[in-house]
Amino acid sequence: MSELGFGIDIGGSGIKGAPVDLHHGELAEERFRVPTPQPATPDAVAEVVREVLDHFDWDGRFGCTFPAVVQHGVVRTAANVDQSWIGTDGHALLNKVTERKSLLVNDADAAGVAEVRFGAAKDRDGVVLLTTLGTGIGSALVVDGVLVPNTELGHVELDGHDAESRAADSARDREELSWEDWAQRLTRYYGHLENLFWPDLIVVGGGVSKKADKWLHLVETRCEIVPAVLRNNAGIVGAALQAAHHHHKHH
Ligand code: BGC
Repeated sequence: MSELGFGIDIGGSGIKGAPVDLHHGELAEERFRVPTPQPATPDAVAEVVREVLDHFDWDGRFGCTFPAVVQHGVVRTAANVDQSWIGTDGHALLNKVTERKSLLVNDADAAGVAEVRFGAAKDRDGVVLLTTLGTGIGSALVVDGVLVPNTELGHVELDGHDAESRAADSARDREELSWEDWAQRLTRYYGHLENLFWPDLIVVGGGVSKKADKWLHLVETRCEIVPAVLRNNAGIVGAALQAAHHHHKHH
């Protein structure tokens, strides 16, 4: 049996989408990617979202990720995106521009939901903490399968700094850190999170999780820490799942 949903991932450099097989957590077709318009204003981004949906002739409801806090459809922060998003009702805007029903969610939350349902945290009870290491650090906290949205653990203070400015993959790049040096920062970062949340499992996502064999064993944590398995498509799959779930719960 296969029920289809649709997910779109809005990132700093690309907007990607595809129909998703909701029972297997896989893309049902090859994904379509459009470069993120610059400046990435709400109207310009919404137009591209419509283009992605049109590309597949998808008329149904869809889920869409955004790399910031999204509270009930309204974007509240903009750490690494165009400031004009703050206060924008992204849900209403997407519904209007695309003429379809949208659900807008935080990017790391979507990835977390996908990893819990189909990936590295499948069938794991207890407290699962997923972090995505990219330009920023995103987080998803899932307890017995239920997401606590918008945890924003990339912005905890670490040694007087915003944690993501020190420990994100972009910091490794910018400061040309060795894997060892970066792993030390991650050990310090995850140690801090563990003291606060006592997770049973940490899942590490983001592009750099593809190279986990180079650095993950250097990161010391109290609990088990594993790389994400859905990689690039976690956001798309998670957004599609959240949109379908939201619909079933409310209708
Ligand atoms: C944002 C989060 C986002 C993360 C990853 C952070 O800077 O505050 O909302 O999930 O970057 O994109």
